[in-house]
Amino acid sequence: MSEDVIVCGGVRKVFRSEAEDLQILRGVDLRLERGACASITGPSGCGKSTFLSILGGLDRPSGGDVSVGGVDLVRAGDDELSAFRARVVGFVFQFHYLLKDFTALENAMLPAYMLTGDRKAAIDKARPLLEAVGLGDRLSHVPAKLSGGERQRVAIARALVNDPEIVLADEPTGNLDRASAGAVEDLLFDLAASHGTTLLVVTHDPGMAGRASRRFVLRDGELVES
Ligand SMILES: Nc1ncnc2c1ncn2[C@@H]1O[C@H](COP(=O)(O)OP(=O)(O)O)[C@@H](O)[C@H]1O
Ligand SMILES: [Mg+2]
Repeated sequence: MSEDVIVCGGVRKVFRSEAEDLQILRGVDLRLERGACASITGPSGCGKSTFLSILGGLDRPSGGDVSVGGVDLVRAGDDELSAFRARVVGFVFQFHYLLKDFTALENAMLPAYMLTGDRKAAIDKARPLLEAVGLGDRLSHVPAKLSGGERQRVAIARALVNDPEIVLADEPTGNLDRASAGAVEDLLFDLAASHGTTLLVVTHDPGMAGRASRRFVLRDGELVES
């Protein structure tokens, strides 16, 4: 029996300014079963990043219901939200956001170290993930000494280091050349599958979107499955 790990009903998001109210999400419904692999496409500015931020507990909806990994993100307090971000979800962004003075290994282990305070255990989690993304020989490189694709592979290892139930990826290949994008895409899909992780990826790349078993388009503030 499959269990839904993401359950959204009537999610709305309004950005208020003095000039106007911007209605970005107008009633988004989504149910994703555990282990699903889903993509969201849609025109630039339609609210894809906004929706992913809400699912990742980085932003709150203006209305509607959002439950991710069994956590009610509408009613959760701030402490519960930060615990949720550390344990339940992993994020991969278009820009890698690696810490520039830290090595690949330190960047990838950091979320685990922050969660447990156990440096050795964090290294033991991060090292095999970096090996899995093909960076076993780059552990002590700082981001400036890595290529764009390699930095994004470190970001994938970092996203997975706390064994999240769900990985949210926002245009993870948007800044990469074709060959690096292909490698990052393969790793994301393969690692999610081998870890049983639910994957939700926002992308402009039709090839990557088509690879997902569930494909959605965000248009006029609503999500439609295609
Ligand atoms: N914090 C904010 N305040 C006001 N408007 C915002 C904010 N964040 C995003 N927006 C607006 O919401 C719309 C959707 O943004 P976004 O979710 O980033 O779109 P997408 O990721 O689909 O390109 C855009 O018009 C953007 O300018
Ligand atoms: Mg975006």
